[in-house]
Amino acid sequence: VLTLDDFDLKGKTVFLRVDMNCPIDPDTMEISGTKRIEEAIETLKSLEEAKVVVASHQGRVGNKDYTGMDNHAKVLEKLMGKKIKYVEDVIGIAAQNEIKNLKNGEILLLDNLRLCAEENYEFTQQEAANTIMVSRLSKLFDLCVLDSFPSAHRSHPSIVGFPYVLPACAGRIVEREVRNLDEIMTVAKAPHVIVLGGSKVPDRLEAIKLLIQNGRADHVLLTGLIGNVFMRAQGRIRYPLGIKREDEVVSKAHALIGEYPDVFSTPVDIAIDKDGDRVEMDVRELEVGDKIYDLGPKTVEHYSKLIAGAGTVFISGPAGFFEKENFSFGTKGLLTSVANSMATTIVSGGHLTSALKKYGLAEQIDHISTAGGALVLYLTGERLPMIKALEEAATKYRSNS
Ligand code: 3PG
Repeated sequence: VLTLDDFDLKGKTVFLRVDMNCPIDPDTMEISGTKRIEEAIETLKSLEEAKVVVASHQGRVGNKDYTGMDNHAKVLEKLMGKKIKYVEDVIGIAAQNEIKNLKNGEILLLDNLRLCAEENYEFTQQEAANTIMVSRLSKLFDLCVLDSFPSAHRSHPSIVGFPYVLPACAGRIVEREVRNLDEIMTVAKAPHVIVLGGSKVPDRLEAIKLLIQNGRADHVLLTGLIGNVFMRAQGRIRYPLGIKREDEVVSKAHALIGEYPDVFSTPVDIAIDKDGDRVEMDVRELEVGDKIYDLGPKTVEHYSKLIAGAGTVFISGPAGFFEKENFSFGTKGLLTSVANSMATTIVSGGHLTSALKKYGLAEQIDHISTAGGALVLYLTGERLPMIKALEEAATKYRSNS
């Protein structure tokens, strides 16, 4: 793929797709982890002689973390130490005028891309190029820079539409991720141990199936909400979890366990929150309303043994509410086992990236990425839509120049 070094950027108007999708505190609606905003800085610095329009999504429509980007603009301004223009608009006249009036060196942040209905759907590249978003805005840009590796698995207009009609290249994060991951995957060896937590259950279920089918998951160790879904499917949690699309996801988990009986490990003991205190128990003792906040010691010990015997370990999603000290046992324990293992190690997602830093373990990991779902899908061997769009844009650009 092409990179920023392949273009003369001075005076160009650039569409920069980043992923500033951050954790949001549901009580205050403030950004509670700014790692992904910090990551955008490197590419912005490479673009300091251009007119840059930064665009990102935040949350999913209908979810609690779905917000406008005004706080992101404030955080970015503080981190960059320079004025960041912000417009509460994505494709309308207000946004278009702001883009046209940009001067060299200025940065404009658009509002949440998912305010535009089209950005909530998956398209072919050609369809994405024909959306109103891409046809209206692409006229205003000279170059499209894709740097949102955490959303590389989405074929949304901002990700696959702009590179279809504009010269396009990878930003610094995408450039580094692709280079490092390609190197790592050539040395990765079995047994492949996948430690999966996280809350995007339907996405995780799809990825698990592909990982197993493509020989990338010999053991799948489950934590977090996806772990609860499998425990429910095994009948070890005896009450409904009360989550979205529960019947569908539980029956998919059930089918996976039936198809691959030796692959999955689920927690045997957990810790719940009782009025702020940690109470450990066997999973079968759980009752309706119990807040599962962490793994118990037997589970951490069992998972750590499997991690120690791995050739490659991939871990994504925290094992508990690690931000609270008395529920950090599982996350800290598993990350320590990953850091100490002789395997090739990959740590994925914003939460675990912060946790690694907090526990001083980052140096011992081979690859760390704030990407979650995109990275899981990359590991399955699937060609991610963003990478495919960048490769095709590079071929087109080279044959035209
Ligand atoms: C992520 O956090 O995984 C990316 O920002 C993609 O978000 P999405 O799953 O809502 O598309």
